[in-house]
Amino acid sequence: MGRLDGKVAIITGAARGQGEAEARLFVEEGARVVMGDVLEAEGKAVADDLGDAAVFLKMDVSKEDDWERAVDAAKGLGPLNVLINNAAVTHFASIPDTSLEDYQRVIGINQVGTFLGMRAVLEPMKAAGGGSIVNVSSIDGLQAKNGLAAYASSKWAIRGLTRVGALEYGRFGIRVNSLHPGGVDTVMGNPVGMDNIDEFYKDYPIPRCGRPIDIARMALFMASDECSYSTGTEFVADGGWNAGQILKWLPGAD
Ligand SMILES: NC(=O)c1ccc[n+]([C@@H]2O[C@H](COP(=O)([O-])OP(=O)(O)OC[C@H]3O[C@@H](n4cnc5c(N)ncnc54)[C@H](O)[C@@H]3O)[C@@H](O)[C@H]2O)c1
Repeated sequence: MGRLDGKVAIITGAARGQGEAEARLFVEEGARVVMGDVLEAEGKAVADDLGDAAVFLKMDVSKEDDWERAVDAAKGLGPLNVLINNAAVTHFASIPDTSLEDYQRVIGINQVGTFLGMRAVLEPMKAAGGGSIVNVSSIDGLQAKNGLAAYASSKWAIRGLTRVGALEYGRFGIRVNSLHPGGVDTVMGNPVGMDNIDEFYKDYPIPRCGRPIDIARMALFMASDECSYSTGTEFVADGGWNAGQILKWLPGAD
């Protein structure tokens, strides 16, 4: 028995990183998956590796028409039960150095993309008798960092959207929650592919960087019926980052 037996999921940003780990884990647990991404070669290679249970769709989450195509692709696999709004980009710049174009690009993909996905799946999920929407936010949707104006704005907005979605969709049996990873060893979290990435996390309660599978396991729980009584809330997988700071000069640090 798989934990997602019989379910059909759309996972965006599934060509690599956390989205790829989610696609692999979901298929292992019995789901059929539409893997949406702008990275065609990488996405196709993962889908081919997963066989009949996965189809790759070249899609840009910020484009309305692409969501219609994603829903159509899911229909080919069966009634749609799960959406993982995972695709995102980041942009590092101070506020004065953030151009309007860069700000709007990040908002367009991370925030508007999430909105379009939530809107597109409502009718198919209603028809399926319910579902689960997982909106991937971030530790930066719970706190913030300098240099991340556009990204943090988009990730905080996703929390708000999630709560509105929970309020509007609950009566149709559709749960909507946000997922908040801490640092994760992917192209986004470790752009230059440092071997010693864990070093940067040695002062956190769980003293290592997250791995895509750490987040995929949380997404699996949120997508599954085991998470049946939670909606409109935040699920955090951050190694304890948001708990606070270990201060070496106070008791309890060693
Ligand atoms: N890596 C981290 O440290 C970290 C921390 C907190 C939250 N997150 C969040 O986790 C999620 C997954 O990120 P990741 O770490 O796997 O990063 P990643 O960069 O490896 O993967 C992101 C994927 O999204 C795709 N994508 C980007 N723009 C797209 C678009 N317009 N349409 C469709 N696909 C698009 C990319 O091609 C890529 O495959 C993101 O929402 C990210 O914001 C990441």
